[in-house]
Amino acid sequence: MLGRVLYRSRNNLLRYFCAKQTPPAGGDKDSKTLCEGDKAKPPSESANPAAAPNKVAASKAAAAAAADKAPETAASGKAAATGAPTKAPATAASGKAPAATAAAKEAKTATKCEGEQPASGKGAAKDTSGKGAAPPPPAPPQQKKKEPRIKTFQIYRWKPGEKPKMQTYNIDLNECGTMVLDALIKIKNEKDQTLAFRRSCREGICGSCSMNIGGINTLACVQKIDGNLAAPLRLYPLPHMYVIRDLVPDMSQFYEQYRTIQPWLQRKNESKEPKGGAQYLQHPQDRLELDGLVECILCACCQTACPSYWWNSDRYLGPAVLMQAYRWVIDSRDDATEKRLTQLIDPYKLYRCHTILNCTNTCPKNLNPAKAIIKLKQLLAGYKKKTEPKLETAKLFE
Ligand code: SF4
Ligand code: SF4
Ligand code: FES
Repeated sequence: MLGRVLYRSRNNLLRYFCAKQTPPAGGDKDSKTLCEGDKAKPPSESANPAAAPNKVAASKAAAAAAADKAPETAASGKAAATGAPTKAPATAASGKAPAATAAAKEAKTATKCEGEQPASGKGAAKDTSGKGAAPPPPAPPQQKKKEPRIKTFQIYRWKPGEKPKMQTYNIDLNECGTMVLDALIKIKNEKDQTLAFRRSCREGICGSCSMNIGGINTLACVQKIDGNLAAPLRLYPLPHMYVIRDLVPDMSQFYEQYRTIQPWLQRKNESKEPKGGAQYLQHPQDRLELDGLVECILCACCQTACPSYWWNSDRYLGPAVLMQAYRWVIDSRDDATEKRLTQLIDPYKLYRCHTILNCTNTCPKNLNPAKAIIKLKQLLAGYKKKTEPKLETAKLFE
């Protein structure tokens, strides 16, 4: 009887002790405020890591003792084991968790909490491994020094008061761009700053770098350097033009001739069409008529390649100007067609063209000024008529 009472009292004591050790169902509320590293540890353990193994071991022992006799106690003991960290008890059981290790783990956890964890996994790996900086990048492969490709440029030089001459410059093509304008810029930058030439866009848009290159009138910025190193490349200003200096021709006469064709839109009832009142729209089919004409950049390559212009440059308008005259004559929005055509009735202005086609051959924009001149002659002779506009521009202002 006494033994039975003692046995019960012992069981009650054990139940009481186990109930005290069991955390509340659903886990410790405080752990929610902890960071990932602390989630596995109850707060009491976090506060005193050295005490943790003893407590958990005691809890485990109590659970083991009560397992066969008191199922509810075993359940709560299990719950305690589940709520407690899996790592710490195991370490404690194996005796491999000295206080120093636990403290180090705590310190590591604290570091993580403070947000000092490296942003990338790579960085974290680097830190923990202690390998330091990444290995230096491999050295770039040694480039073989190319054999110099020396190209000779012979350039027309003249300035007022001196005799014209051809000056020779040697350029290593390995150290130069591919276009003639690149070589000219290199010469000016590195060899002779007195060399004069025009350039602006270096894209074949502005028309300012036109010159005679290897016997052809073209744009220096779109003309490739001839790769034949045995033959020099000769550069002259546009032929049959007065020269201002070196490769810079005097374009005054050309622009004056261009002005005579009045290259702007002329309307019959301009007073009824206030400026900005509407756009001078054009039907797409009418606009198509201007293709191949409006692309002209007035570089004067064709003009100065025309033999007729060479001999009569003061009276013959030349291919570039005549092509622009045609462009305004056929413009569907322009009302001055008759006036424009009448102005061209002259033995020299238009009819000096003998359809030799030098102009078309040389145009660096692949336009066809000779064809435009032929059409202009047809309009003047009455063989062709200007097509009726498909869009009444005047109605846009009503
Ligand atoms: S076709 Fe007319 S404009 Fe052109 S080069 Fe010959 S003569 Fe000059
Ligand atoms: S037609 Fe050609 S060569 Fe003549 S000015 Fe125009 S772009 Fe230059
Ligand atoms: S630089 Fe403009 S066309 Fe050559």
